[in-house]
Amino acid sequence: KARTVLLATEKAFAAAAVTKIEEVLKAANYTMKKLENYKSKDDLLAAVGDADAMIIRSDIVDQAVLDKASKMKIVVRAGAGYDNIDLKACEGKGITAMNTPGQNANAVAELVFGMMIVSARNNFDGTSGFELVNREIAFYGFGAVARAVHKLAQGFGMKSFAYDPYIPADKIKEMGAEPVSTVAGLFEHQYVSLHVPLTDETKASINKDLLGKMPKGGTLINTARLEVVHEADMLEILKTRPDFCYLCDVAPKDIEPFKAAVGDKYGKRLIFTKKKMGAQTAEANDNAGVAAANQIVGFFEKGETRFSLKA
Ligand code: 3PG
Repeated sequence: KARTVLLATEKAFAAAAVTKIEEVLKAANYTMKKLENYKSKDDLLAAVGDADAMIIRSDIVDQAVLDKASKMKIVVRAGAGYDNIDLKACEGKGITAMNTPGQNANAVAELVFGMMIVSARNNFDGTSGFELVNREIAFYGFGAVARAVHKLAQGFGMKSFAYDPYIPADKIKEMGAEPVSTVAGLFEHQYVSLHVPLTDETKASINKDLLGKMPKGGTLINTARLEVVHEADMLEILKTRPDFCYLCDVAPKDIEPFKAAVGDKYGKRLIFTKKKMGAQTAEANDNAGVAAANQIVGFFEKGETRFSLKA
């Protein structure tokens, strides 16, 4: 049966990835419809009406979008985090939702190290920085992304620690990281890297009680979601602790107070990317985009539901 698949990406994939996605869909006799770099939700609302399936990134899929999507059977988030999809609303409409876990993990891991090195080398300002070898990094959440960072950390000669409520300690040990039994225990190490989803439980959970425990030169790396970190507490820590660093993939709406808190140490004590950049590589675009297209074809042609998400 001919199907129409809407590729709705407010932040577009690389053109080569879009070509590959289209090839997968064409081979199944499906039509791809593109809505890239759209500026308003109305554009999305107008585009979903004739689509049987949809590939998205961080695009918001809520009740309003689903109400317009009368033919929609499946939404695939080309990426890991799915806090942008209203799963209950999908369930209510009988629409399957999926993600593509792991497909962009390496891209995020490389960005983590990119930011760590820029900071450790004082944003290349000519002064003496420090090396990462022998330093400690602790992971909050030990899924695909954290494990990819851990692999690079091992190459750098760092020591890894991890806490994940869903992974037993012996499994963490098996993977070469030291298990930590509480979230607070992570914050005894110089680097803490966040790899938890945004949920009611994790929202604003990284607060001054935790951040205040970090040793000298404490550095929080956030390639998860901005909202996991308590914004006002982070600002306070940056103002009161001149040794503290925050490396974050995606900026808050108002970055000025943060920039003011670190002054000329922007790039050293504070890094904000312009848009969420973790998954913005040619490879990650290919991997996640093509996986999403294959999952849609598998769903329609073979009834495959692996990677479907539960509300
Ligand atoms: C993810 O959850 O996969 C990443 O945050 C990537 O998000 P993006 O597709 O919006 O860049």
